[in-house]
Amino acid sequence: MTEDVITVKDLVKVYGNVRAVDGITFAVEKGEVFAFLGPNGAGKTTTVEMIETIRTPTSGDISILGKDVKKDRMDILQRIGVLPQEFSSFDRLTVEETIQYYSRLFCVDCDVGRLIKLVNLEEHRKKLYVTLSGGLKQRVGIAVSLVNNPEIVFLDEPTTGLDPRARHEVWDVIKGLKREGKTIFLTTHYMEEAEVLADYIAIISKGKIIAYGTTTELIDSHFKTIKVTIKGGSAGIGQLAKKMGMAVHSEDKGGITIEATGNEQVVEFLNALKANGISYLSMDIRKPNLEELFLVLTGEALVEEEAAK
Ligand SMILES: Nc1ncnc2c1ncn2[C@@H]1O[C@H](COP(=O)(O)OP(=O)(O)O)[C@@H](O)[C@H]1O
Ligand SMILES: [Mg+2]
Repeated sequence: MTEDVITVKDLVKVYGNVRAVDGITFAVEKGEVFAFLGPNGAGKTTTVEMIETIRTPTSGDISILGKDVKKDRMDILQRIGVLPQEFSSFDRLTVEETIQYYSRLFCVDCDVGRLIKLVNLEEHRKKLYVTLSGGLKQRVGIAVSLVNNPEIVFLDEPTTGLDPRARHEVWDVIKGLKREGKTIFLTTHYMEEAEVLADYIAIISKGKIIAYGTTTELIDSHFKTIKVTIKGGSAGIGQLAKKMGMAVHSEDKGGITIEATGNEQVVEFLNALKANGISYLSMDIRKPNLEELFLVLTGEALVEEEAAK
């Protein structure tokens, strides 16, 4: 049986004339990775910090682990872990000392060695925080969020600005937390991150949830077709596709993209290519991704161009 550990109802946060969070309702199940996916300024941090009891809602209800954020703040704080956006710590404490320090703040006797192992920082335990790379610093932050052995862990953009390798290493740590049975509330503006990690995704834009579901549900409910992109193909591909009743999207030097109604039509098309002796260099067959879904829903791109990708 599933159990909701967070329920949010009609949540609103207003700053002056900005409705940072504009009436959102959702639930998070125990043990799942829940991703809150949206661009900068969508209202992700405001929402998580209201759930974490750090910010006070303008209106609406939040219940976490069966407790009301308005009444049971101390209770809740002891049972959750938080990695704030852009986490930073004492420059001149080692990894080990940092985790020890935060565990003392919580008045808990945590097993520092176990946490260091959980975030794969064994070989860095004696290094000063200031000397660590961005990815290692984030992993220290995740360890810190775990000192009170929380049931729910909130990770606010844990991989923003990291290079691909460091990002994958943080993903491995998050997968490990899920295996430990933690519920994880992840905010991100990387659709790939949500796709790789999340059991359930809510897409947020301008303070509103505009779509939610598993990746497959989100894609299937908005896109009925499969895209076939062919590069380096011989002549006649577009014509053949049109003859078979398929939409042809682009036909330029970069290749040609064809839209099939389903798997069966893809197979028919492949057979037709072979029967007509058409050769090609490469073929990519795929459903649209969350990035394209976001574009369709909002008319805007999810991530602006940036160096770290
Ligand atoms: N303390 C605040 N005071 C005024 N405006 C704020 C405050 N916090 C957030 N905002 C505004 O609320 C909107 C949502 O911000 P935020 O929750 O940080 O988005 P995200 O985390 O998705 O990038 C933005 O327009 C931001 O400028
Ligand atoms: Mg944020």
